[in-house]
Amino acid sequence: MSYYQDLLKQSQKLLAQFQLELNSLSLEELNIKYLGKKGLFNQLASQIKKLKKDEKKDFGQVLNQLKADLEQGLNKIQENENQSHQRLDLSLPGIKQNIGHLHPISQAIEEISQIFERIGFVRADFPEVDWDYYVFAALNMPDNHPARDEWETFFVDQTAHPKLGKMVLTTHTSNGQVREMERVKSQLPIRMINISRCYRRQSDNTHTQMFHQFEGLVVDKNINIQHLKGTIDYFAKEFFGAKTKSRIRPFHFKFTEPSFEVDFSCQICGGTGYLKNKHNKKESCRFCKSGWHEVGGAGMVHPNVLKAGGIDSKKYRGFAFGWGVERSYTLKQGLNIDDIRLFYSAEREFLEQF
Ligand code: DAH
Repeated sequence: MSYYQDLLKQSQKLLAQFQLELNSLSLEELNIKYLGKKGLFNQLASQIKKLKKDEKKDFGQVLNQLKADLEQGLNKIQENENQSHQRLDLSLPGIKQNIGHLHPISQAIEEISQIFERIGFVRADFPEVDWDYYVFAALNMPDNHPARDEWETFFVDQTAHPKLGKMVLTTHTSNGQVREMERVKSQLPIRMINISRCYRRQSDNTHTQMFHQFEGLVVDKNINIQHLKGTIDYFAKEFFGAKTKSRIRPFHFKFTEPSFEVDFSCQICGGTGYLKNKHNKKESCRFCKSGWHEVGGAGMVHPNVLKAGGIDSKKYRGFAFGWGVERSYTLKQGLNIDDIRLFYSAEREFLEQF
C-alpha cells in the first residue's frame, strides 16, 4: 500500500472514530481532540508534505472534506447544546399555559346558588325530562288549558302515564315546586332554589332551545308578599350590585295568585333610562327601555298548587319566583349580545372573553 493510500485510510478511520465519539465526548473534548492545534486532523494534515505533487492535490481535497465533516458534526452538537441550555435557563420567563375556565353560565349558576344559600335556601335537583303533571297540571294548568300554549313544549314520543300524562322536556323550573313539596313530605318550611336546564321550541338570536332558569320556592306559616319582595331585592343587590333596584308589576300566571312580573333597574344607566353623551346631553339608554329590564315571574303560590303538593293552604303560604340564568347573566355584565346562541356554540373566541 502506498503512503498516499495509507493516509486515505487514516482519514476514513479518523472520521469513523469521530462519529463514534460524537455522543460520548463533550463538545470541548471533541474540539481539542480532533480540531485542536495538535489534534488528530492537524496531525494527519501535516503528513501531506510527504506526498508526491499530484497526490498532494488530491489529498488536499480529501482533507478539506474531512475538515468540513468534522466541523459540521461539532456544529450540530453546539446547536443541540444551545437548545437544551435554553430549556434549562431558569431565569427565562415561564411559558404561560392556557387554562380553561368555567362556562360563563356555569359561573352564573354557581354565583346564584351561593347568593341564595347565604339566606338559607337549599339547592334542589329535579328531572329535566318530567311528566306533564309536574310541569303543567300540578301547577294549576289542567289538560288543554290555553295557558299551556305559552310554553313551546317538546313532548317525548312515549306512551303517556295514566295519571301523570305525557313526558315533556321541562319548559321551566317550576316543575320543581310540587316535586319539592312531595320531597319534604310536609316537613316544612321549604326554602328551595332549583337551577336547571329548560327546553322550548324556539331558536333565534334571543332564544336557545336549551337554556337555564332558577326557581325559588318558600313555603312556611305567615309568608306574605313582603317576604317575596325582600328576597328579590336581596338578590338584585347581591347579584347585580348594591345600587340595583327591583320592582314587581301585576301579571298573570296560573300557579301564583297574585302574580307579578319582576324588573331590575338597568346596570348601564342606573335605572334612569338616560345616558349623557359626549356633549353632556341626555340620550336614551341603549341598553334598556325606560331604565328597567323585565326578567321573570313571581307570585304567591296558588292554593291549588299547595294542595297538589299535599300542603294545607289554610295553615301555610308560599311565594315563588323564576327566571332565566342567561338573561340575568347578560344583564349583570351589561352585555348586548347580538346572538345569545353563541353561548352554546362552543366558539372559543366568544367564550374566552368571560
Ligand atoms: N315559570 C315561569 C316561566 O317560565 C316563571 C315563573 C313565574 C316562575 C311565576 C314562578 C312564578 O315561580 O311564581 O315563565
